[in-house]
Amino acid sequence: MSHLLPNVFTPGNLNNSPQLNEELQGSAYVQPDKQIQATTKKAYIETYGCQMNFSDTEIIAAQLAEIGFGFTPSENNADLVLLNTCAIRENAETKIWNRLKQLKVTKKSKPGLMVGVMGCMAERLKTKLLDQEQLVDLVVGPDAYRDIARLVEEVESGQKAVNVLLSREETYSDIAPIRLNTNGITAFISIMRGCDNMCSFCVVPFTRGRERSRDYQSIVQEAEDLFNQGYKEITLLGQNVDSYNFENCTFANLLEKVALINPLLRIRFSTSHPKDITDEVLFTMAKYPNICKFIHLPAQSGNSRILELMNRGYTREWYLNKINRIREIMPNCSISTDIITGFCSETIDEHQDTLSLMETVAYDSAFMFYYSERPGTLAARKYPDDIPESEKKRRLSEVIEVQQKLALNSNLKDIGKTFEILIEGNSKRSEKDWCGRNSQNKMVVFPKDNYPLKPGDYVTVLINQASTATLLGEIIS
Ligand code: SAH
Ligand code: SF4
Ligand code: F3S
Repeated sequence: MSHLLPNVFTPGNLNNSPQLNEELQGSAYVQPDKQIQATTKKAYIETYGCQMNFSDTEIIAAQLAEIGFGFTPSENNADLVLLNTCAIRENAETKIWNRLKQLKVTKKSKPGLMVGVMGCMAERLKTKLLDQEQLVDLVVGPDAYRDIARLVEEVESGQKAVNVLLSREETYSDIAPIRLNTNGITAFISIMRGCDNMCSFCVVPFTRGRERSRDYQSIVQEAEDLFNQGYKEITLLGQNVDSYNFENCTFANLLEKVALINPLLRIRFSTSHPKDITDEVLFTMAKYPNICKFIHLPAQSGNSRILELMNRGYTREWYLNKINRIREIMPNCSISTDIITGFCSETIDEHQDTLSLMETVAYDSAFMFYYSERPGTLAARKYPDDIPESEKKRRLSEVIEVQQKLALNSNLKDIGKTFEILIEGNSKRSEKDWCGRNSQNKMVVFPKDNYPLKPGDYVTVLINQASTATLLGEIIS
């Protein structure tokens, strides 16, 4: 890989986590995988929120490179600081406000510094971001990244610049992302944008607009390019991948097209919606060994009345039938979920239904949150946010406790099994160990044992120990 930029730090491997929901910590841009002209102007980008935002940062970086920006790992060397933000819960936004306060101090010592806010919080708050701290110069929503060159030039000429227009068509399908935080092995590919679901608690339809699917040719091409560059795993991203549809190409059809690129290219995807995932998708997953046997299927609640208030479009029974169908078709498929505790009017009994759903499904992993009312959503307009925060948090701690037990049980069951692992790099704890994931998305750590292996290789590992978060094993071939 040749490029003229310094090879700067990687704060953790952010490509590792396929869930679309994880509130990833802010992290700076690193390591482009294509040649960029030597430049004098430097941008520093911090990304918050879900994998979709991380994927968008790679599009933003590509747009900035076009107008001659290089990238730096430190805000101190930057001419332009960008925060790609999340609005999913109140604390995601609080984090950004605190960060902006810090940047105000930086800007005092560096008056020419340009500060921009991108992403979902930019879309939600629009020009309010310009007023509040008298600091932000640039506000760009998720569908306006193509306009970034013009907007930055406006700021360079001393004005404030805003574009938060949402689009019904934009998919950035023709933009080759500059891969960030890359380990060179795993990468994200956005296959659609926006969401039409209107779950009553959720701000995403307001920050990312209407659902639209990207053309499948450009997705397959991007996946092929990545494979040719040495990448071994791609994660197809969308808020609701099961409703992907481009010129009659369904999500199942798309999965098949991508799986056929090469048996050595692993495919993951996120997020599936319980009301939309089809048997066709499950059979396609079962048919191709390189489609990973892992489904993130957020339940949100285990109670049908709450699910109705959430506007999720399914009941507890429907959800459990889906789980049975997955297990019938793919007995070795692991399943994860998202759970919200303390949604409007949730009773203790209804909360118990969530705990019992978790036990019944026996999730392998979960992302768990307490309900945070988001202005403008259906729930905020219709239902009082009437569960005290302390009670929401108490219910959350119960949910977390149950999930820790389930995750440990699930991992203990893997002792004695062998898995094919894609090596991603050194384990965090020791350079003597590799780490990588199995098809079921479990992280596996094992000694290198003098085998001539490298990141990107597949290896068979026998599991001999397990904790809540990790499997430990040894190479057997
Ligand atoms: N499109 C995905 C993910 C959306 S956001 C899906 O439908 O699953 C990721 C997760 O954040 C959601 O699944 C939900 O569990 C959580 N979430 C969304 N809005 C929230 C809110 N207002 N309060 C708490 N958690 C929320
Ligand atoms: Fe939000 Fe529901 Fe869309 Fe997911 S499916 S992004 S939770 S509205
Ligand atoms: Fe993702 Fe947060 Fe937006 S979860 S879609 S960055 S609100």
